[in-house]
Amino acid sequence: METRRPLIAGNWKLYKTNPQAVEAAKQLAQMVGHVSDRDIMIAPPFTALQSVSDIVAGSAIKVGAQNIHWEKEGAFTGEVSGEMLLSAGCSYVIIGHSERRLYFGETDRWVNQKIRAAVRASLIPVMCIGETEEEYEKKNTLSVLDNQIKKGLEDLDFDSLAHLVIAYEPVWAIGTGKTAKSEQAQEVHRYIRSLVEKLFGNGLAKSMRILYGGSVKPENISELMSQPDIDGALVGGASLNPESFSKIVLYR
Ligand code: PGA
Repeated sequence: METRRPLIAGNWKLYKTNPQAVEAAKQLAQMVGHVSDRDIMIAPPFTALQSVSDIVAGSAIKVGAQNIHWEKEGAFTGEVSGEMLLSAGCSYVIIGHSERRLYFGETDRWVNQKIRAAVRASLIPVMCIGETEEEYEKKNTLSVLDNQIKKGLEDLDFDSLAHLVIAYEPVWAIGTGKTAKSEQAQEVHRYIRSLVEKLFGNGLAKSMRILYGGSVKPENISELMSQPDIDGALVGGASLNPESFSKIVLYR
């Protein structure tokens, strides 16, 4: 079987002031900063990126941003570029989260441009995809994902995608306490991998990490991670508390 390094990522969303983020990062660094057999990423709000990066520097914890603009610089009030994120200590960036698609009108075309910007800045893009409850009920999950992947990755080549991470997050499972059953998630992950294989070849399909997201907790992480095509998790709510996030990171 392929060995892909697991990645456990915490998305702090619109939570934590700078001092709160610093405190959480200090605790996390103590609890999981030494881990060597898996990758760890936390994504604080923009305002805490630099201070959190300073705290976790030299530990196993890497820092990610929750959004990026595709231009390097310019008159784009309120936006932040990949180069700026890199200079604030980021190594990852979350792109196309369902909350951005839903509340901020983010399109697949933007997702595509943002992935290019991340690659240009040497950041690892974490592209989020997932179906809404209505799409799920109508059994449209696979066609929705198909569309998001094809448009999000349109005209990108193998080299640009070498480090890409895909996060599958069924929208109906985010922040709701509902999780997809691990076998159900595995089926979808397998489908995503087969689509990546069809579009970009076997090498990329085998090495690409596909995370699961949506109400991941210390209680369900082990079962999810036991599935062959689930390579990690994107954790929202349970990542805000260093103790529960550490438990997820240290799953067995
Ligand atoms: P949740 O969020 O873990 O709170 O469901 C996941 C996410 O939005 O990435």
